[in-house]
Amino acid sequence: GTSLNQLLVSKGKKFWGTAADANTINIAANSAVIVSQFGAVTPENSMKWDATEPSRGSFSFSGSDFLVNWAVTNGKLIRGHTLVWHSQLPSWVSAITDKTTLTSVIQNHISNVAGRYKGKVYGELWDVCNEIFNEDGTLRSSVFSNVLGESFVTIAYEAARASDPTAKLYLNDYNLDSDNAKLRGLVALVGRVNAGTKLIDGLGTQMHLSQGGTGGVKAALTALAATGLDVAITELDIEGAVPSDYTTVINACVATPNCVSITSWGVSDPNSWRASSSPLLFDASYKPKPAYTAIVQALS
Ligand code: G3I
Repeated sequence: GTSLNQLLVSKGKKFWGTAADANTINIAANSAVIVSQFGAVTPENSMKWDATEPSRGSFSFSGSDFLVNWAVTNGKLIRGHTLVWHSQLPSWVSAITDKTTLTSVIQNHISNVAGRYKGKVYGELWDVCNEIFNEDGTLRSSVFSNVLGESFVTIAYEAARASDPTAKLYLNDYNLDSDNAKLRGLVALVGRVNAGTKLIDGLGTQMHLSQGGTGGVKAALTALAATGLDVAITELDIEGAVPSDYTTVINACVATPNCVSITSWGVSDPNSWRASSSPLLFDASYKPKPAYTAIVQALS
């Protein structure tokens, strides 16, 4: 039968993936949809800092190993998510106040987490830094920026490159849904970080959208693609979506050569972090919704 992944690949893109983890993989109807429809998985929570290094130097990979093993067994690519994020960050990290300690803590975290999955999964990608910008395009206040300034970004990407030299390294954020101040701040920082060695390979735009909020998406993808880097839609969901909201986004990616992949932030509405707003492509019975049908028509 038809799959979202095959249809998108037929347009020259790399994959259509979905967020997943043990809690949703263990729902048989859900994993059946992932197997048949999607080409990649992003760990929804299991690779985050609170899950992988809850106390300093003590690593825990049960959740992430489960997801990676499932992906390998089922022939799915993987987007690693995420190494440096101010949220789901253990308090022992937030409490660090000196540059030397925080630098080595970032380096050790990345070498253990990215290093563990090095070469294990074809097409591996990492969201190295996640959500590091304010809406005005300046750097968000976090332990990372407060202690190290902008240099934490280079520290993190250098560590990720050293840990997994062939992985594509992404910078991921939300509200990059029009050519706005946040997007311009991100593009400017990428220019500074990549000025010497190219450390950032790709830009992830999460696209947590709302009904009718897709008008700026094509311009945003074009502005991100103007960096020359790969661009990925990494966490797509649309609150209260009507089918045309979805087709607008998918058509915009197809029309943007550098837009390499789309990832839905989950499969079925009730398992979404925005469950009350029916933002995904499959309903509570794991049946495709009208937006799914519209996408298939748009890509056929
Ligand atoms: O692991 C605990 C579990 O032990 C406990 O019993 C349970 C009780 O509520 O909570 C569990 O943790 C939850 C975790 O998901 C795992 O299910 C957290 O409370 C909950 O806050 C967390 O939500 C995740 C959220 O990130 C946290 O920031 C969502 O599932 C996940 O979809 C969401 O994903 C983020 C992306 O990583 C980054 N971009 C935004 C996106 C949406 O917020």
